[in-house]
Amino acid sequence: MQTASTVLLIAALISIQTVKAQNTATPSLKEIFKNDFFIGTAINAQQIEEKDLAADKLIKQQFNAVTPENVMKAEVIEPAWNKFSFDLADKLVDYAQKNNLKVNAHNLIWHSQLPAFMHHMQSADSVKQYFENHITTVASRYDGKVYSWDVVNEALNEDGTLRNSIFLQKLGDNYIVEAFRLAQKASPHSKLYYNDYNIEQPKKRAGTIALIKKIQAAGVRIDGVGIQGHWKAGNVPLNDIEESIKDFSALGVEVMFTELDLSVLPNPWENTTADVSATSKGNSKMNPYANGLPDSVQQKLTKSYTDLFKLFMKYKKDISRITFWGVNDGQSWLNNWPVRGRTNYPLLFDKDFKPKPAFYSVIAIAKSN
Ligand code: XIL
Repeated sequence: MQTASTVLLIAALISIQTVKAQNTATPSLKEIFKNDFFIGTAINAQQIEEKDLAADKLIKQQFNAVTPENVMKAEVIEPAWNKFSFDLADKLVDYAQKNNLKVNAHNLIWHSQLPAFMHHMQSADSVKQYFENHITTVASRYDGKVYSWDVVNEALNEDGTLRNSIFLQKLGDNYIVEAFRLAQKASPHSKLYYNDYNIEQPKKRAGTIALIKKIQAAGVRIDGVGIQGHWKAGNVPLNDIEESIKDFSALGVEVMFTELDLSVLPNPWENTTADVSATSKGNSKMNPYANGLPDSVQQKLTKSYTDLFKLFMKYKKDISRITFWGVNDGQSWLNNWPVRGRTNYPLLFDKDFKPKPAFYSVIAIAKSN
């Protein structure tokens, strides 16, 4: 008798605890947006190797897509001529498979983070060999194992013309179509995307549209376009973003926001001064929130995320993925770019992995739609 009631009591306590845990559990971005778009994050080597337990927990709870922040870039994956180093990229694919995460592989062709042997390459023949071999080897290894590829990254100038990269110089202005053609052949089972920043801006947007049309006109597959989304809190170009979603989706391709973060820090290029004595003062001015974020700035960040997600929900039928560039504030690249050693607050989770007011506001938008 006594045993039975003890069992009942324990059972009741357990169920109360469960209800409590459910009530206080953090909502999940991937759950709340599951009928709208994938929710991704960029992950680093530590996270891929499951050495960052707090991040690991959050990734599993919040996201259903990942982009490798660095490990699939050319300098990492082909460090020496025709010598590939797939270790971390393979681990990433295993990690994603185990945790039901779609991989957006990033990236095949980009002027930045190239292997050292590419830096002074003069011969057009060698560049062509590298280009074909790199795309074919890497894309075919992960065919169908990754959901998608950023085939070409950041090929445009701000005025919409082609960036004067080693690829343009040595291969000519058809190189982007050729990159997609090679990727399509090597990876018929993964989606193929073009990815760039500021392409919501009118001139660069026009350049992107021309580029997509050119690829399509050549009979080559392009499945989507990624707008990186490195913007500033309080200064998100909402109208240009809206026009871009409309313009890009009218071309029949998926639209994605692929590297979303909203900086709260001053940009050195906006406060240029020729005054040499301004340096030390300038430094603390450039890193104003090292000891914490004032409420007013927190609110500005929350408002920008709110406005953005309202827009994303309005166009959810055209948008296939929203990826944040990093798991939490402490790990964001914006702490070291464009100035090293600052404290930025650009994401939805703080340095202790705690959801910020912007997170709850984004969740509320999903619920109200
Ligand atoms: C950044 C990474 O976050 C850094 O860790 C790295 O040092 C430099 O590159 N656009 C892109 C990304 O397409 O690959 C960049 O990632 C950020 C800008």
